[in-house]
Amino acid sequence: MTKICVLGLGYIGLPTALLLAKSGFEVIGVDVNERVVKTLNQGQLHISDPGLPELFEEARRNFVAQTVVPEADIYLIAVPTPLNAHIRVSELGYVRSAAEMIYPHLRKGNLVILESTVPPCASEKLVIPILEKSGLKAGEFKYVHCPERAIPGKTLYEMVHNDRIMGGIDNESAESARSVYSSYVQGRIYLTDVTTAEFVKLIENTYRDINIAIANEFAQVAEDYGVNVWEAVDLANKHPRVNILQPGPGVGGHCIAVDPWFLTECSAKTGLIQLSREINDSMPNYVIHLVREMLGDIREPTLTVFGVSYKNDISDTRETPALKFIQLAENEGYKVKCYDPHVSTFEYPVYDLDEAVRDSDCIVLITGHDLFKRIDPAKLSMRHRYLIDTRNHLNKATWTDAGFEIKTLGDGLVRSEASRGVASEQPEQSPLPNSKATTKGV
Ligand SMILES: NC(=O)c1ccc[n+]([C@@H]2O[C@H](COP(=O)([O-])OP(=O)(O)OC[C@H]3O[C@@H](n4cnc5c(N)ncnc54)[C@H](O)[C@@H]3O)[C@@H](O)[C@H]2O)c1
Repeated sequence: MTKICVLGLGYIGLPTALLLAKSGFEVIGVDVNERVVKTLNQGQLHISDPGLPELFEEARRNFVAQTVVPEADIYLIAVPTPLNAHIRVSELGYVRSAAEMIYPHLRKGNLVILESTVPPCASEKLVIPILEKSGLKAGEFKYVHCPERAIPGKTLYEMVHNDRIMGGIDNESAESARSVYSSYVQGRIYLTDVTTAEFVKLIENTYRDINIAIANEFAQVAEDYGVNVWEAVDLANKHPRVNILQPGPGVGGHCIAVDPWFLTECSAKTGLIQLSREINDSMPNYVIHLVREMLGDIREPTLTVFGVSYKNDISDTRETPALKFIQLAENEGYKVKCYDPHVSTFEYPVYDLDEAVRDSDCIVLITGHDLFKRIDPAKLSMRHRYLIDTRNHLNKATWTDAGFEIKTLGDGLVRSEASRGVASEQPEQSPLPNSKATTKGV
């Protein structure tokens, strides 16, 4: 039985290891975190994603976790590659240490697969030289970069159904990787060279980041013309060759918000990419501006943040724009309470719904969780009933009928001075000016 050692048992490494185990490989999962290893060997999961518990049950007979790297036929690296946010440069220490852990065991004909996202040329300049400390030259061992594109919340589905890019140091390496992944990948597999594979992964997410940045800029320009950007984007996307993404409160996660910096860290030709990052990073500042506009001079204002994960319907808060928004709000003297039924650990306390809205003046929806749509706004007990919807997510009629005054990011509606003045004087739960109290246009 072919033996595969998967290094890193996180969001990517664990499902990959289990898919391989289910496909008939003998899989040894290695993680430096003893708690992860213990949890898995006790038959429990430390991460959640749809279908993972069922897959774990099916795959366990071919899977074991441990903290040390064994001899294997194939080594697959899926360790973190975070961004150092201060200097905006990739931190490749985990990849370096994974390669250091592998090379003493490397034998002729072994295949090493790097799944972790890395800057272009990292395989050639960093990883392969460490593996060559084994005494083998690249080519005597096989090496492939297979970037992962699966999205949290649909990880397993996408791991099986997405097309894959595999960049090998030579054709034999790439073909070996193809035969490994073909055991469970139903999407198409495209072969290329290592650096192109690294580059492709990064330009995909950079393209999305730029597309979101232009949507965010459109949202702010639309406000100046009294145009609803959501309707405008929808109509523009009727054009057969236009596909504008949605505006929002900023970009999170550790792919789209990070990969553009990986792509550009060794290049000086990067104006548009960097500008797009800055536009997306500035969106929490824009949301604070909307809050200021809406709440006027309410004394001791309290905000309730709906959703702190970086994306809808998941628990992952990495690089979430909610964090910057909350910090900015606190710096301006707002009290902030968070509500996110998907998230249990976060930099700020996360409350249940009643506690999060109690005595609050304004809900600021940052993440468009599906279950927010099922909240009955009439039942919320708040001091004032304001709502800022940065995702155009909630049903306006329902919330307006419940007495909420709503500002949707990019809706082109400017609140009248009169409505703003009245805001601070509202008695508890009294109906606030409905949509007619907002004035359209500049
Ligand atoms: N999570 C995603 O949705 C996603 C999507 C596409 C690509 N990626 C990329 O996949 C890679 C892995 O990301 P993740 O989200 O799975 O990370 P993660 O943080 O969820 O898990 C990584 C695991 O690796 C372990 N680890 C660290 N150093 C190790 C070492 N030397 N040996 C063995 N284990 C080690 C950690 O303890 C941790 O359990 C990253 O490069 C990431 O950018 C992630």
